[in-house]
Amino acid sequence: MERTFAIIKPDAFAAGNAGKILARIYAEGFKVVGIKKLYMSKVEAEGFYYVHNERPFFAELTDFMSSGPCVVMTLEAEGAILKWRDLMGATNPAEAAEGTMRKEFGTSIGENATHGSDAPETAAFEIPYFFSGLELL
Ligand code: RTP
Ligand code: MG
Repeated sequence: MERTFAIIKPDAFAAGNAGKILARIYAEGFKVVGIKKLYMSKVEAEGFYYVHNERPFFAELTDFMSSGPCVVMTLEAEGAILKWRDLMGATNPAEAAEGTMRKEFGTSIGENATHGSDAPETAAFEIPYFFSGLELL
């Protein structure tokens, strides 16, 4: 079993799509090990996306992620990291496959509905960034 970290981003939460996304997560066979709503600060968003801090879209990305409440999750499944990346679809909703979360709920490359860890090392940083061990029992 593998764990990954996922976010229902502020655009999807504000649009009322959190329930539909969570329903798909369950339907695809993930176990939701941890889940909570939070309203990220700018500093928290910068720390979370620090790998992108040299990128031109860093300010826009962290402004967006701190623009409203989101839902953070720890998901468990066989091959959870790739499985959730597949269900999310391509970063740009315009290029995402039919039936993926970003195709269905994303509106632009910035406001793309969901986040998912892209590798085991990333998940190992991202899960404890938002969840304590006690929250994952
Ligand atoms: P995420 O980390 O949010 O799951 O997205 P990702 O792996 O598919 O894409 P990544 O390269 O990690 O980029 C992180 C987020 O930055 C925004 N972005 N904007 N304007 C742009 O060219 C651009 N490129 C990336 C996206 O919202 C992406 O989710
Ligand atoms: Mg990424």
